[in-house]
Amino acid sequence: MQSRLTLARASGVVTLPEGRVALLRPPVDLDLEGLDPGRLVAVHGFRPDHDALAARGLSVSTGIEEPVAGVVVFATRSKALTHALIAGACAALPPGAPVVVDGQKGDGIDSLLKACRAAFDVGEVFSKSHGKCFAFPAAPAPVDWTDAPVDADGFETRAGVFSADGIDPGSALLAAEMGPLSGRVCDLGAGWGFLSRAALASPEVTEVALVEAERIALDCARRNIADPRAVFHWADATRFEAEPFDHVLSNPPFHTSRKADPELGRAFVRAAARLTAPRGRSVFVANRHLPYEATLQEAFGAVVVLGEVAGYKVIQAERPKRSRP
Ligand SMILES: C[S@@+](CC[C@H](N)C(=O)[O-])C[C@H]1O[C@@H](n2cnc3c(N)ncnc32)[C@H](O)[C@@H]1O
Repeated sequence: MQSRLTLARASGVVTLPEGRVALLRPPVDLDLEGLDPGRLVAVHGFRPDHDALAARGLSVSTGIEEPVAGVVVFATRSKALTHALIAGACAALPPGAPVVVDGQKGDGIDSLLKACRAAFDVGEVFSKSHGKCFAFPAAPAPVDWTDAPVDADGFETRAGVFSADGIDPGSALLAAEMGPLSGRVCDLGAGWGFLSRAALASPEVTEVALVEAERIALDCARRNIADPRAVFHWADATRFEAEPFDHVLSNPPFHTSRKADPELGRAFVRAAARLTAPRGRSVFVANRHLPYEATLQEAFGAVVVLGEVAGYKVIQAERPKRSRP
């Protein structure tokens, strides 16, 4: 299906320049009709999407690392991250070069358009398929759009990471209920490192593997944890392979990049089972309403609820059934 960007270009509402164009956080299935893939660089920090874009044959990176003549910003669910992407695009481009913005109503494109109109010289707007595409010449972005570290309960976070304003109550509950840790620990979907830092408080722990798909969050975790026992993996947890661990900790995500998706949490449970040593254990926290029970029973031989508070439950799972698919 032709994308809104393709249709907006065909209508003449937006124009991409000659030369290299960066696509910031593009959907992995973006239609590139009429664009020379050799002139594009897809910038994405979320590992599964980064890898899927690379598998399409696109040049990929995690930031704008070379001079570009234009940028297309795809609005994200996080307003702060989208603002930071636009500010980064404006800073990377020569003044006046085109910044194109594309986004869905559900990702807040209407309020983003309003904010862009207040800050930039926005041209005509192309509306299609519950979304909008528009462009403006690069100019200095509002100061508070610029990506900057945020202090969250003494941890460094950034725009676009999970629970950027402070410790997630579910993770706090997991840390309180996880019991004694020793040996090798894996933090699956480690975010900016809250659970890993809690695990590293135990002197019996010899290694904590932080597995996190979002590069921004993992970079925050690197700054939040200065402990030689921490090992950082920018990886898709659902495909992560390693020697099994004594303990796997996880507050699984319940969203893919754009929509609620309990299947992602289930994939985390299956990955945890694969990564748990035969005599090890996995400990999860989840919102009480999330439907993981059947997957937990399929993947582990022993499942108990350790605690249930304020809409969250902490679940311990042992005896991983690794031979099952
Ligand atoms: C609910 S958050 C928990 C974060 C952190 N453990 C905490 O307690 O604050 C889930 C984390 O999983 C990450 N994530 C989502 N999909 C992932 C994937 N396929 N592989 C690895 N991490 C993923 C998200 O970026 C997010 O940081």
